[in-house]
Amino acid sequence: MPGAIYAEGLVKTFGNVRALDGVDLDVPEGTVLGLLGPNGAGKTTAVRCLTTLLRPDSGKAVVAGIDVLRNPNEVRRSIGLSGQFAAVDEYLTGRENLHMVGQLYQMRAKQAKARAVELLEQFNLTEAADRTTKTYSGGMRRRLDLAAALVVSPPVMFMDEPTTGLDPRNRQQLWEVIKQLVSGGTTLLLTTQYLEEADHLAHDICVVDHGKVIARGTSDQLKARTGGERVEVVVQEREHIATAGEVLRGFGKGETTVEEHTRRLTVPVTGGAKLLAEVIRELDTRGIGIDDIGLRRPTLDDVFLSLTGHLAEQRDEESGESGESGENGKNGKNAENGGTAATKGQKRKKEDAK
Ligand SMILES: Nc1ncnc2c1ncn2[C@@H]1O[C@H](COP(=O)(O)OP(=O)(O)OP(=O)(O)O)[C@@H](O)[C@H]1O
Ligand SMILES: [Mg+2]
Repeated sequence: MPGAIYAEGLVKTFGNVRALDGVDLDVPEGTVLGLLGPNGAGKTTAVRCLTTLLRPDSGKAVVAGIDVLRNPNEVRRSIGLSGQFAAVDEYLTGRENLHMVGQLYQMRAKQAKARAVELLEQFNLTEAADRTTKTYSGGMRRRLDLAAALVVSPPVMFMDEPTTGLDPRNRQQLWEVIKQLVSGGTTLLLTTQYLEEADHLAHDICVVDHGKVIARGTSDQLKARTGGERVEVVVQEREHIATAGEVLRGFGKGETTVEEHTRRLTVPVTGGAKLLAEVIRELDTRGIGIDDIGLRRPTLDDVFLSLTGHLAEQRDEESGESGESGENGKNGKNAENGGTAATKGQKRKKEDAK
């Protein structure tokens, strides 16, 4: 049986851009799918097709058991959407915005008011509730938009980059709200640039690039595909480096790298925490003092780089895609995110080359 969100062979072109190039998705009820990809990968287009805002050129989509192309109105009644750009009425207060949504969904006035109070509290907007949203900061608008998507509790939710522009505290709080929502049975598709976010929230992850799903699986499965589990040790004394190297070679699945000046040794392993405990015991038996030791697992950043083989901003430069009007500010911001991954990736390549 198809899941609460199901898509098969979705294609959407804009002129000669294939924004979606045959996307298949299947999200089981009560789970979270993280759609991960660089700028222009097709995330928003996928969300818009699934939420009836765009008609795909071809393919099939079923949401909450309803055919999206045949019965769009019925689909709209079963879903909630928080788009990439906050859609709040600037001339209304935060509270009024939420009341208005309640009314659109035909809630009774009293019920709509109570729900607004609850959501304003949950999203840290109580103090600003009675100011027009014109005076809100970007993060506050973002939060109000998310609250608006949650006025009624639809069985299927879509959130397009829900935490872009939120500070760390508000991001954490939104994660909690999302976890609560999902534990109550909601099915959620969220897009994100934050690999850490997909790691935290998503049961399954689809990595998209150029309108295609290039990898899917749980965060652990994607990480396992990258390999790259390592033990890193920093020994206390420089003269212990050689012996520690011998120990690590005994456990390792590849070459041990040594950084003399930091007294750090690194070796690829398989076997996780159990193996780490054995390494610690062996180092201890040989009387080697340790300053620091740990198991380094690949991050989703590593996974993304190893899958796409290119960085988001590099691709943009190559294909000249970065000049989309109105999105320049955003692209700039995402280039920063990509930059973090880039630096890590380059560093890793250097490490591997040693
Ligand atoms: N209405 C449109 N008209 C023309 N081209 C479009 C339109 N909407 C999207 N595109 C193009 O389709 C591709 C996918 O865009 P989409 O907005 O789905 O990407 P995204 O993954 O959401 O990116 P971002 O991370 O920047 O939000 C891009 O090349 C974009 O320029
Ligand atoms: Mg987008």
